[in-house]
Amino acid sequence: MRQTAVAEIYFCNMQLLRLQLFNYKNHAERFVEFGSGLNCITGPNGTGKTNILDAVYYLCNAKSFFNGIDQQLIIHGKEFFSIHGWFNNDVETDILVNFTKGKKTVKKNGKAYPRLLDHIGLFQSVFITPYDISLVLEGSEERRRFLDFSICQTNRTYLEQLSLYKKLLDQRNAFLKKFEGRSFDPVLLEALDHQLAKAGQLVFDERRRFMEGFIPGFQEFYAFLTGESEIPELLYTSELHGLPLSEILQQNIDRDRVIQRTGSGIHKDDMELMLNGFPLKKYGSQGQIKSFVIALKLAQFRYFQEKTGKKPILLLDDIFEKIDSSRAGKLMELVAKDFFGQIIITDTHAERVKEHLKEIEAEKKFLDLSRPAQN
Ligand SMILES: Nc1ncnc2c1ncn2[C@@H]1O[C@H](COP(=O)(O)OP(=O)(O)O)[C@@H](O)[C@H]1O
Ligand SMILES: [Mg+2]
Repeated sequence: MRQTAVAEIYFCNMQLLRLQLFNYKNHAERFVEFGSGLNCITGPNGTGKTNILDAVYYLCNAKSFFNGIDQQLIIHGKEFFSIHGWFNNDVETDILVNFTKGKKTVKKNGKAYPRLLDHIGLFQSVFITPYDISLVLEGSEERRRFLDFSICQTNRTYLEQLSLYKKLLDQRNAFLKKFEGRSFDPVLLEALDHQLAKAGQLVFDERRRFMEGFIPGFQEFYAFLTGESEIPELLYTSELHGLPLSEILQQNIDRDRVIQRTGSGIHKDDMELMLNGFPLKKYGSQGQIKSFVIALKLAQFRYFQEKTGKKPILLLDDIFEKIDSSRAGKLMELVAKDFFGQIIITDTHAERVKEHLKEIEAEKKFLDLSRPAQN
């Protein structure tokens, strides 16, 4: 473990001080004060522990970790939800998310962002949840999401170009649909392709650069978690490794006209997950898959920290119940070494989490959702 790299520099942490929810998922009204160290949220299943973690994620990213449809996040029967958070990020900053009548606004210190994009990258959080296995088991979109999320947090040009690429791609697909089988002025498509290729090429270059820096850390964390000599690999796959996007688009124009959409580009990239030379999805055991995704998240944590000079907020969902004790023990080893900053952890059993944390000296705070609120 490269402890020295972490210990050498003094990092100020990203910290959420307070959180106030109205009508967010099952929380009609909820106020939580957090400590700077370990914060444990306990309560039976369905009491809204994960929803609180998701609200914290929402404050950082202007969207839910689990559900992209904001309307479904409003508590049943109400018209709006709001999430208000007070952060300490050198100075105190308050972020207010409000979703009402189908419209979302995000305000920083009382002032609405003109574009939600402008909020991205201000606060980093890393979410470790049992649901992460979708990263391995689902399609390539999940893995692109992981890549994009990791890069966007600390690279504004990437964020802007990726967003431009998506816009141009929609335009190109609409164009191909509109002219299905009919002749059209190629100059129009050429102009669009020129812009699309430029944005896509930048995204490709950044993804490739990111992977180079990210992989060694990821492998180190995998070895740390498992203590085994297995070889975990991440392979960035993209058609752009072979040809520039401008040429790929040109070569495939006839196909694209037939299928009426753009069949090549960085929106098709993937990250192949391999273990000992075999695809993890097909051959990995449940334990190996879990170690793999936790290692990805820990490497993400360190990546953000190295880029921003601050420790992100760590959100740990159900780790003592859903991952086995040796991996949970390894995570606690990192906690004990002060590797993380602020942590918010959930568990169904207060006693279990207290037992796991009893050796750890950090400041601890407990919130039991099965008890009526004190305030
Ligand atoms: N829009 C919503 N309105 C009301 N309840 C919701 C909404 N979305 C989710 N829930 C409820 O939230 C609860 C689950 O919360 P969750 O945070 O996953 O619980 P926990 O992590 O404590 O097990 C479920 O009972 C679910 O029905
Ligand atoms: Mg939960």
